[in-house]
Amino acid sequence: MIILKLGGSILTKKDSVKPEVDFKNLNRIAIEISDFLKKYDLKNDGLIVVHGAGSFGHPYAEKYEIGKHFNDKEYSNKKIGFSITHNSVNEFSSIISKSFIENNIPVISIPPSSLIKTSNKRVSYFNLDLIKEYLSQGFLPMLYGDVVLDDKLKMAVISGDQILSYLAKNLKFEKIILATDVDGVFNKNPKLYDDAKLIEVLNSLEELDSFDSTNVDVTGGMFGKIQELFDLADLGIESRIINAKTPNLVKSALKGIEVKGTLIKAKNHQ
Ligand code: IPE
Repeated sequence: MIILKLGGSILTKKDSVKPEVDFKNLNRIAIEISDFLKKYDLKNDGLIVVHGAGSFGHPYAEKYEIGKHFNDKEYSNKKIGFSITHNSVNEFSSIISKSFIENNIPVISIPPSSLIKTSNKRVSYFNLDLIKEYLSQGFLPMLYGDVVLDDKLKMAVISGDQILSYLAKNLKFEKIILATDVDGVFNKNPKLYDDAKLIEVLNSLEELDSFDSTNVDVTGGMFGKIQELFDLADLGIESRIINAKTPNLVKSALKGIEVKGTLIKAKNHQ
């Protein structure tokens, strides 16, 4: 069973003021998944796609400060913000679904806000029943970064990475692929240093300590992802970070071909 995470940065135009899909990447990736599925039995093996929110989610979640404490007077504005954010990521997921369906992929987009609850931003409830049922009938379930009800904060944002990690742990997935817009984890910021080296295998979180701290790929958005991935690595679940901007990399990684990227794997599971 495979989980493929498609980062928001690969499917949306990040710098755009309005939510905007990167159709070139989306349609190419849909074709690559479809090509892979021609020789893969969804009913026996299972594939789940989790996608990020990109410019469809982050600007609204920030504007309405979803996940921050608020007082009763602010409640109605918060609720509208929650609805707006959900509606936007839901629309994004429909656009992705449309491209998948055009390529004959039996996708079913499932809103996490209807299955998941959190407590202080961590999953406290996750109804997996329907996902299991769709998988057993050979569908490709697709989940995404969304807003959810939270026991402590009333509402919170859940990232695609946390969803992926929960699914991998609880549905016994063997392979995790993170499709991003960079080649993987570097020891230095590759945008600043010509001699930055791609780390092909990462065995522990501590290894990151020896890296140049100006490396935005490690200290920025990538760090949270790597932490989630090490939780999985400790359970023996390997994950691979690849660059989905490079044509055919997603398809090859799905096929199990060793492609350029960073493999995250705990030492005691070698
Ligand atoms: C964020 O999801 C969800 C919302 C902002 C509502 P992700 O954290 O998974 O999205 P990306 O991959 O960073 O865009």
